Amino acid sequence: MQIEFPKNFTWGVATAAAQIEGAAFEDGRGASIWDGFSRLPGKIRNGNLPDIACDSYHLVERDVEMLKELGVDSYRFSFSWSRIIPEGTGKINEKGIAYYKKLLALLKENGIRANATMYHWDLPYALQMKGGFGNREVIDWFCGYATVLLDCFGEDVDMWATFNEPIATYVGYAQGFFAPGLRDEKYARQALHHLLLCHGEAVKLFRKHRFENSKIGIVVDVWKHYPAREDNDEDKAMAMENNEIRGYGMFLHPLFLGGYSKMLTDYFESNRMTPLMQEGDFDTICQPLDFYGLNFYNGLYDNADNVREIEKIRKSGGNYQDRPENHPEALKDVLRMLVEKYHVNIPIYITENGMPFEDADGKEANLDDQARIRYVKDVLIWLHKALEEGIDVKGYYLWSLLDNFEWSAGYAARYGLYYTDYASLERIPKMSAKWYAQVIR
Ligand code: NOJ
Repeated sequence: MQIEFPKNFTWGVATAAAQIEGAAFEDGRGASIWDGFSRLPGKIRNGNLPDIACDSYHLVERDVEMLKELGVDSYRFSFSWSRIIPEGTGKINEKGIAYYKKLLALLKENGIRANATMYHWDLPYALQMKGGFGNREVIDWFCGYATVLLDCFGEDVDMWATFNEPIATYVGYAQGFFAPGLRDEKYARQALHHLLLCHGEAVKLFRKHRFENSKIGIVVDVWKHYPAREDNDEDKAMAMENNEIRGYGMFLHPLFLGGYSKMLTDYFESNRMTPLMQEGDFDTICQPLDFYGLNFYNGLYDNADNVREIEKIRKSGGNYQDRPENHPEALKDVLRMLVEKYHVNIPIYITENGMPFEDADGKEANLDDQARIRYVKDVLIWLHKALEEGIDVKGYYLWSLLDNFEWSAGYAARYGLYYTDYASLERIPKMSAKWYAQVIR
């Protein structure tokens, strides 16, 4: 079967600073919450640390060479706040700025557009010591950082995203298995409210620059939960809560419809965790955006009698080699929901999609990653159907360019198109890299 995508469709790959750069304590970089968290016993699989990761700080030329080999139009990466402003506020680290200038120059030289995220989970550790996102002052801290980014890199970045997957802050503050490792839901709810305000204020700052060629948006992942048994009330209630109270509803409602949903508001009240808010907060949060970035991995089916099964799937990365629990078709449904329920009437980019392999499967199996190809192909087929229905999806980014530090899974989960040999730091193209290059061509 052959399907054709629009000529101007953007093809890309994605990474994030804390997952690939390494050089954690070099050239003036300050620590981030992931540097601290990963040192707590038992938090990261095999006790892995992000200190070296793929060493992209030193191997940036090789990374850009791989982008060229793939033939991507655009590279999605993130800035490290603590590399640029080591303590989170105050002194700027010129070596950090120089690193990203070099990356952007290399991209430009090779005709690859930049899609850059301001915040991809790595809060400067010094700011966490002051309460992190739980402290309303974070809005000023974030605006200070965003100002430096916009002043230094401005229109060299084609697409700016304020935040990547804000749910990570919920996981890190309420559930404890991401940095900073807290388990305090009330604090987490407050933190998310502040995070949304940081987003809104950063968009306002961006608008003041009146860039002609850059756009701004946000990246929110959607893992849509469905009832496993359509006629089972408990399954239905469970799926609804997972979507509205602990899932995408936390963000999409305030960002696109304004305010928190009735269900979330009631939940806050009955659990005495309504965040402190100020007048005008919801107007700040609900800024008009130029694009919406959707990270899509899978659809999830909730069975109230088997809660552990869904936990297992999520923790294994959400989708995994040829499992019946893989639901690429959920993509089209999610896209339709964005348009119909949340009135997302701006261009949509799939900013992440991919599949993990286990390091334990061995190098050979990792290089011959047919299951990844099969899954991505299925997702692209569903994406194409959505295009045919008239949904305005403008691009697709595969996660990830290369195997990297997969947060609490450490180096055990490999998502890359390129295999990272962590001993030699050599990058080796997998079957999927060759396949994806062909798709792009
Ligand atoms: C979500 C995140 O944005 C990214 O950092 C992560 O590595 C991938 N998905 C895979 O889990």
